[in-house]
Amino acid sequence: MEHTELIKPETLDDLIKALHEKFSGDTVNVEEVQNLMESYESNPHEWMKYAKFDQFRYTRNLVDEGNGKFNLMILCWGEGHGSSIHDHTDSHCFLKLLQGQLKETLFDWPDNKVRQGMTKKSERILKENQCAYINDSIGLHRVENVSHTEQAVSLHLYSPPFNHCNIFDQRTGHKNTVKMTFWSKFGTKTPFESTVAQENN
Ligand SMILES: [Fe+2]
Repeated sequence: MEHTELIKPETLDDLIKALHEKFSGDTVNVEEVQNLMESYESNPHEWMKYAKFDQFRYTRNLVDEGNGKFNLMILCWGEGHGSSIHDHTDSHCFLKLLQGQLKETLFDWPDNKVRQGMTKKSERILKENQCAYINDSIGLHRVENVSHTEQAVSLHLYSPPFNHCNIFDQRTGHKNTVKMTFWSKFGTKTPFESTVAQENN
């Protein structure tokens, strides 16, 4: 197996090109992708056009479709916005902070036989330029911008791409499948797709 040297991407476009290369084969080297994403130094001028906020909840904004191998998107978190506890549909999930901070809380999968509350496994604060990774074998997580004064922006890569996931009720462990949609695609607002998932998710 060849060792691939890490070449630091100077811009978001460089990063996207490098990601296309990393995902051109049949296997994914998680550590390499994580290092690559972490090595890009966030420059707001490069991603501002994708960063569209909503007053009430976090938004998902599609940046690149990765030749069908992955979806790259920018999530915009207003003050106090957070996700439900969710899984990742058997995909790889990389999450890099572009601006601000996010709190990630990890949970174990709930035991279906016993309806009981879900217990926290761990929590951490993700800082600017840091890149986290999760998949279904690691567990479930909730992501939140706990700041009351600062917005947060994060770059997410999901491979293979998916548009459904399960969300979990922390008190009962009960799960619901939800469809996820994009608030904008390639910098342009998507007017019709937002309503259903924006309420469920
Ligand atoms: Fe996630």
